[in-house]
Amino acid sequence: MHEQHHNAKLPWAAGSLPLMLAPMQGLTNRALRGLFIERVRPDVVFTEFVRVKASTKKNITENDRQEVVSTVGGVPLVVQLIGTDTEALVAAANTVQELGAEHLNINLGCPYGRMTSQTAGGALLRAPVALGRLLARLRQEIRGSFSVKVRSGFDDPAQIFSLLTLFADSGIDFLVVHPRTVKQMYSGAADHGVTAEVVLQTSLPVIANGDIFSAATGQRVLAETGVAGLMLGRGAIADPLLFERLRGKCPSESASATKIAELRKYLQELLVRYQALFCGEHQILCKMKEVLCHVHDPEVLPLARQLKRSKSLAHFKDLTADG
Ligand SMILES: Cc1cc2nc3c(=O)[nH]c(=O)nc-3n(C[C@H](O)[C@H](O)[C@H](O)COP(=O)(O)O)c2cc1C
Repeated sequence: MHEQHHNAKLPWAAGSLPLMLAPMQGLTNRALRGLFIERVRPDVVFTEFVRVKASTKKNITENDRQEVVSTVGGVPLVVQLIGTDTEALVAAANTVQELGAEHLNINLGCPYGRMTSQTAGGALLRAPVALGRLLARLRQEIRGSFSVKVRSGFDDPAQIFSLLTLFADSGIDFLVVHPRTVKQMYSGAADHGVTAEVVLQTSLPVIANGDIFSAATGQRVLAETGVAGLMLGRGAIADPLLFERLRGKCPSESASATKIAELRKYLQELLVRYQALFCGEHQILCKMKEVLCHVHDPEVLPLARQLKRSKSLAHFKDLTADG
C-alpha cells in the first residue's frame, strides 16, 4: 500500500505553472543551464542523465558530481539518474543527496542502445514488477521530491495507464510524460491525447513533454491536457525565448528581422560559458554545433548551416558577431 512519506516538497511553488528545461545529454550541462537561468529563468532545470554504474562505490563520475552541486540563482535543480542496479542506484541517490541534491528523478524513457541493453532508461518499462520494487526502494532513501520521466510505454502507447497505480504506490511525487513509446524513439509525433488521459487517471501532478516547439503548441497542450506544467527540450535549445513567449513576456514569435540577431546573441553568450567549461577549440566547437543541430527555423537556417560548417572558433565568432 502507499506509504505516507514525508511531504516531499515539489520543486515548484504550489499553484504556479512550472515551465521546465528538459534533461538533454550533451546539451543541458551546467554552462547551458546557467545561461538559461540568467536569460529566461526556467522554473525548474534538470541535469543531463547521471549514469549510474553497477557498483556501489564511485559509481558516478567526477564531472557528474560537479553538475549536481551547480545550482544557480535559486532555480531548483532536479538530478536525473539512469541505471538498472538497485543498490547502485540507492548508493548514487545517497551520494548526490550528500552533495546537496534535493530533487531526484529517474529516467524511464531513454531509448538508446547501451543504456537500454542494460535494461536502464526506457527498458525498465519491460519489467514493471521489478520497476515497482526499484522505485519503492529508492523512495525510502530520497528525502526530497522523487519523480519519474517516462514514455507512454515500451512498445504499447497504452502501457502507461497500467503503471499509474505503481507510480502512486511507490511514492512518486510527479510524472513527466513524453507520450511516445521507447521503440518509437523520436519518430512520429508526441501524442498529448495520451497525456490528457494520464491526467484524468492519476492524482499525481503531470508535466507534459514532447514536441513543444512554439508558444502556440505549448498553450494548446496546456489547454487540452490540464497538466500541471510543461517541460521544454529541443524547442528551448533552438529558441531559449520559448520560456518567455509561453509566459506572454515576449511575442509568441519574433519578427523576422530580429531572429538572426537573437540567435547570434544566444550563441555569443553560450560560447563564453562553453569556453570556461570545456577544453580545446575542437571540443568547444563540437559542443556549440550540437546546439545548432536543433535550429530548424528556415529564417535562421542559412546562418546555422554556415556555423555548423565552421572549422575554427575565430570563424565561428566572426559569424556570430553583430551584423
Ligand atoms: C540530444 C538529446 C539528449 C537527451 N538526453 C536526455 C537525458 O539525458 N535524459 C532524459 O530524460 N531525456 C533526454 N532526452 C529526451 C528529452 O528530455 C525530451 O524528453 C525529448 O527530447 C522530447 O521533448 P522535446 O520534444 O521538447 O525535445 C534527450 C533528447 C535529446 C534530443
